Amino acid sequence: MAHDNVLLQIKGVSKQYPGVQALKDVSFSINKGEIHAVVGENGAGKTTLMKILSGAEPMTSGGLVLDGREINLIGIKEAIDLGINLISQELNIAPDMTVYENIFTGSEISQYGILNRKAMREAANRLLESLGAAFGAHVYAGELSIAEQQQVEIARALRHNGRILIMDEPTASLSDRETARLLEVIRGLRDRGISVIFISHRLPEVLQIADAVTVLRDGMYIGTARGEEINEEIVVKWMIGRALSDYYPDRASVDAAQKNYFVVQGFGDNEEVFDVSFSAKKGEILAITGLVGAGRTELTNMIFGITRKQTGTLYLNGERVEINEPVDAIEQGIGYVPEDRRAHGLFLELSCAENIVMNVMDTEPISNGWILNLKKLSEVAERAVLDRNIQTPDIDREVMYLSGGNQQKVLLARWLEAKPEVLILDEPTRGIDVGAKSEIYQLISELAAAGVTIILISSDLPEVIGMAQRILVMREGRLVTEISSQEEFTQENILAYASGIKVPDYAFEYVEGR
Ligand SMILES: Nc1ncnc2c1ncn2[C@@H]1O[C@H](COP(=O)(O)OP(=O)(O)O)[C@@H](O)[C@H]1O
Ligand SMILES: [Mg+2]
Repeated sequence: MAHDNVLLQIKGVSKQYPGVQALKDVSFSINKGEIHAVVGENGAGKTTLMKILSGAEPMTSGGLVLDGREINLIGIKEAIDLGINLISQELNIAPDMTVYENIFTGSEISQYGILNRKAMREAANRLLESLGAAFGAHVYAGELSIAEQQQVEIARALRHNGRILIMDEPTASLSDRETARLLEVIRGLRDRGISVIFISHRLPEVLQIADAVTVLRDGMYIGTARGEEINEEIVVKWMIGRALSDYYPDRASVDAAQKNYFVVQGFGDNEEVFDVSFSAKKGEILAITGLVGAGRTELTNMIFGITRKQTGTLYLNGERVEINEPVDAIEQGIGYVPEDRRAHGLFLELSCAENIVMNVMDTEPISNGWILNLKKLSEVAERAVLDRNIQTPDIDREVMYLSGGNQQKVLLARWLEAKPEVLILDEPTRGIDVGAKSEIYQLISELAAAGVTIILISSDLPEVIGMAQRILVMREGRLVTEISSQEEFTQENILAYASGIKVPDYAFEYVEGR
């Protein structure tokens, strides 16, 4: 079983916390010089396993074999001495110390009992340089960005020949650019023969970087894919326990003879959005996609009355409607789930119940216009939590304590209570676990089946392709094409339009369909 290339064997590791078995008999191996991603949904046991590998937490049963020799990690120090380092989810940096002091904490270089600051600074600078860091060892760590502080942690892990570097969700708080940079650093480490165990629940970056992917689910080892075997389909299937083909709900067909319900004509602000026209029927899922900065969010903000349009007319069911602020939109039966749900949608300090009933607070049965019926309010919220499978200990729990996926379900539940005719969803699944994602797709599909017009703003192309009946592509504030035949729903095709490589051979023109 032991293979030449195997560095660390994890053998039947289990971990029992009071009341929770976080790991159940997990076995797999890490090879020398590989980027080994460990993925799984929230609570799958990833962090627990990493704490065990780095000596931060004892295992309940099982064993570890490093280089063919059984090891017994009593604490972090033993692990570090063996070259195993953990960079945990919460960075461990002293902001009021310099970078080199942070790097050499606990293993200061000294001579005749006196700290050799110059030697430490130089050694630190060499380490930082090898990581391509853009700052020097003398600056205070508190002045650095999160991404830079992460580099300090990596330098610290490498200060004495780290062999295994474990990074727990290192990209969680990084921008796209910082993430790309970190992935480069990780590749550089691999090229130096270091094994990197990379924890993430973001599949795209995992698929991009990993030489091996191990999936945990509910504390159990599901499988490891290596090299050519790695593909999205198998990893998602392992993560959620069913096939990707069942991931997106079946696409309902929309009656083509039906007239358009939602018609946007000539919308623009003369700055970021120009002359956008489109229409959608009841029960239709219309996706609007494009690259970052294409103007999709600006467009929806105008439709919903958050910002003022300069040009354009909106028709609902054949009637011209005027929307000047969000309350007008809500009154007309338009709902909007914004991209930044934490900043613009949810009230984090309020309970699930309050967030869910917010838009129907002053209507029957919750209120008769004067008096709030708290019993009814609880009933409505309880039912919504059950129906929408929102995981919360109770309806009074503040929304801030819920996972991202469950927060999004709360927001959707709010709009479902208000029974909108049109629902605009801006990046509804960004940053959400695959399992919760598939539930959100199910909800969207049910809404459409109930006759709601869904405007799905998304840059997640598999999502757009999996969910939409028609796809509109925006580029630089303009609508560039409409893709309505499902054979043409491919990532290449959409990207070609979104980036301007492909221009439609006809000028895309709105055909009045009312
Ligand atoms: N210190 C702890 N005490 C009790 N339960 C814990 C502790 N740490 C984690 N758990 C539980 O163990 C399970 C796995 O958690 P974790 O390893 O953090 O998962 P992941 O990192 O994959 O999200 C979860 O059910 C979590 O609630
Ligand atoms: Mg974790």
